[in-house]
Amino acid sequence: MTTTANKRKILVTSALPYANGAIHIGHLVEYIQTDIWVRHQKMSGHECYYICADDTHGTPVMLRAEQEGVTPETLIERMHGEHLRDFNDFHIAFDNYYSTNSPENRELAQGIYSRLKEDGFIDIRPIEQFYDPLKEMFLPDRYIKGECPRCHAGDQYGDACEACGATYSPTELIDPVSVVSGATPIKKQSDHHFFKLSQCRAFLEEWTRHGGSADGAPPLQKEAANKLEEWFEAGLRDWDISRDAPYFGFEIPGAEGKYLYVWLDAPIGYMASFKNLCERKALDFDAWWRPGSEAELYHFIGKDILYFHALFWPATLHFSGYRTPSKIFVHGFLTVNGQKMSKSRGTFINARTWLKHLDPEYLRYYFAAKLNDRIEDLDLNLDDFTARVNSDLIGKYINIASRSAGFIRKSFGGRLAAPDNGRDRAILDTLLEATATIQQHYEARRYSEAVRLIMDLADQANAYINEHEPWKTIKEPDLQRRTHQVCSTGINLFRLLTLFLKPILPQLAQQVEDFLNIPPLQWRDAQTLPAGHEIKPYRHLAKRIEARQTDALLEDSRESIASAPPEAHSPTRHGETQQHVPPPIAETITIDDFAKIDLRIARIVAAEHVEGADKLLRLTLDLGEEKRNVFAGIKSKYKPEELIGRHTVMVANLAPRKMRFGVSEGMVLAAGPGGKDLWLLQPDEGARAGMRVK
Ligand code: 2FM
Ligand code: ZN
Repeated sequence: MTTTANKRKILVTSALPYANGAIHIGHLVEYIQTDIWVRHQKMSGHECYYICADDTHGTPVMLRAEQEGVTPETLIERMHGEHLRDFNDFHIAFDNYYSTNSPENRELAQGIYSRLKEDGFIDIRPIEQFYDPLKEMFLPDRYIKGECPRCHAGDQYGDACEACGATYSPTELIDPVSVVSGATPIKKQSDHHFFKLSQCRAFLEEWTRHGGSADGAPPLQKEAANKLEEWFEAGLRDWDISRDAPYFGFEIPGAEGKYLYVWLDAPIGYMASFKNLCERKALDFDAWWRPGSEAELYHFIGKDILYFHALFWPATLHFSGYRTPSKIFVHGFLTVNGQKMSKSRGTFINARTWLKHLDPEYLRYYFAAKLNDRIEDLDLNLDDFTARVNSDLIGKYINIASRSAGFIRKSFGGRLAAPDNGRDRAILDTLLEATATIQQHYEARRYSEAVRLIMDLADQANAYINEHEPWKTIKEPDLQRRTHQVCSTGINLFRLLTLFLKPILPQLAQQVEDFLNIPPLQWRDAQTLPAGHEIKPYRHLAKRIEARQTDALLEDSRESIASAPPEAHSPTRHGETQQHVPPPIAETITIDDFAKIDLRIARIVAAEHVEGADKLLRLTLDLGEEKRNVFAGIKSKYKPEELIGRHTVMVANLAPRKMRFGVSEGMVLAAGPGGKDLWLLQPDEGARAGMRVK
């Protein structure tokens, strides 16, 4: 039972997604993890707010907007809409989803900077950096490529070599090239503003060990705390928080042409989003953000941004007169079928693509079944996902309702009976007594343990129904009263399991609440329904997953990535994505290897749209002696009618591939990354269908 005395004030955040890319299922691990926790807090009656925003500033957004011929403001507004729609559809219930490009964030970020400056925490000194003389801009490391100074692999980024793993500074690259314009960058000096992190060590050591809450509990999980100790030992270096114009961000007060680095204003975006909420809800911002605040502050983040959240962030907050986080909850990365998400395998799955094929709550359930409080990577194995959802949710949980509800409506006027005091009461008590443990598992982010316990209780509930066989007793006139009790107990068990699963399956829970004719379930509702309570007719609540749905999901993800601009899908954590860089030349092959590929001139004799496919055209190719059916991901560039009659080049001996829409018997060749940047090959005049290309 919640009383006002133990009503907590809790502010929760998830990392702000970059405004230059779509939400994918890798992101969703964190939003789902956080949303479950927030829903649990709200069900406990606490005053809890879940805050997020788009992370809008920096070079990638600026360049992408330029590439699309729009202003950054237009681009980020569009992305904000897309992100919010994805989150809503996955039932991620933010109390405010804002933008870092907001007046509140400008005021807070510039205010924090000014306070740090006044108190001597900002140092200004010149640094030398690569500059693109054509584009007239300084180049972030990721926008410079060249030969690795260690292993001499070509086409490596300015900060690290993907071939040998070396890290270096971009000025060490051999034959560097600007990714933005192709120009050779020149070295140029400019003044940069540094936050003196080196002076924050004592504070940070203390904060890491005892800092979080009033009780002196450490704010980090053990593995994260260990990482920090390593960083302390290596020494804390001052943090470069300025960038030169042109830059999309907030100008530094009193320093014309200098902007705050995106990573300074991004976490301040948490505060700004909350401030914006305060105006709407008449909350007192300072009561939540100033030292001595009674409110708890929690950040959910991925393991790759620990440095920003556990060092820079508490230090900037503390030394600019704000409170520090109570705890930082770090999670691992998502793998799909045991491997890193991959575009070519179709496992780089966007939120939107998932929604076209599968129920969002099934992903929530599967993630919950695997999430715990440790910093471990989490694998989405699609076969296991299908089996688990079908057996747990449909086979165990929903099954209880479908076996009890019909009889209550048909034979007992939709009204529940009181359970008997023996076996019925015992099984109900088993569930009621488990409530506190389930709540503790949620609180401690041990969702996998909560799910294990809930499914164990569902097994016991099913065993109870099997034992009593209401489908048999309903036919016995003298067993009507007992059947009524058993089915009513079944409904009560189902209601309790729904309560337990509600943080994970909010939409399904809402449908159940409607069917059971009850107000929204809270933790305090762990009791049984009174005798005489009337339920509504049972409607089917959930569907099994078929294997073809996950196949189609992978197929669709392969398609949609192949034809989208590459930068939309490769946001790196530092927000600095690659633009228009040809991929590295592949490994050397022999002439014999090449001879294995039978390339032919093909004439396109028919081209048509494929129903249900966003990216594909169906081509009929004439090879002289035979015709082939080929699906090509070129729809975003070419209209069918402009292709008919053209000659092109195809791989004629590629193994046929079964696709959702039919079998593809080969592949046509095109240049470019995809989308509108795609150019179908065409031979010189005179080449005829069937000729071999060598
Ligand atoms: O790594 C990222 O995706 C960043 N956009 C996260 C920012 S979180 C916070 F600091 F704003
Ligand atoms: Zn190298």
